[in-house]
Amino acid sequence: MERTLAIIKPDAVERNIIGEIVKAIEGEGLVISAMKMLHLTKKQAEGFYYVHKDKPFFDSLTDYMSSGPIVVMVLSGENVIERWRKLMGATDPAKAEEGTIRKRFGLNIERNSVHGSDSPESAKYEISYFFNALEIVR
Ligand code: CMP
Repeated sequence: MERTLAIIKPDAVERNIIGEIVKAIEGEGLVISAMKMLHLTKKQAEGFYYVHKDKPFFDSLTDYMSSGPIVVMVLSGENVIERWRKLMGATDPAKAEEGTIRKRFGLNIERNSVHGSDSPESAKYEISYFFNALEIVR
């Protein structure tokens, strides 16, 4: 059993498609073990994405991620990091496979509707950024 962090990003929350995305997650048999809605400050978004701090898109990304509410979730299951990444699709919605969440809902490479941890190490950091042990309930 593995855990990963999933985020429904501001572009998706704003368009009222939280339910569509949750439906896709549950439809794939991924288990939601924790869930909450937050509105990050710019500083909190910078802390979450610190690994990208030297990238040219960092300032725009953290402006966007603090522009409106997000939904953060812990997902659990066998091989869930890879399964959630496959369900999300490629970072750039234009390059994502048919049927993936980013293909269906993503607007562009930045406003790509969802986030997922890319390794067990980042999952550990990212989950602990948003949740304490008492909040992860299954
Ligand atoms: P995410 O999977 O959350 O990880 C980093 C985020 O940065 C990514 O999704 C996009 O939202 C954003 N991103 C990645 N590459 C680019 C890019 N070339 N231009 C703008 N934003 C990007």
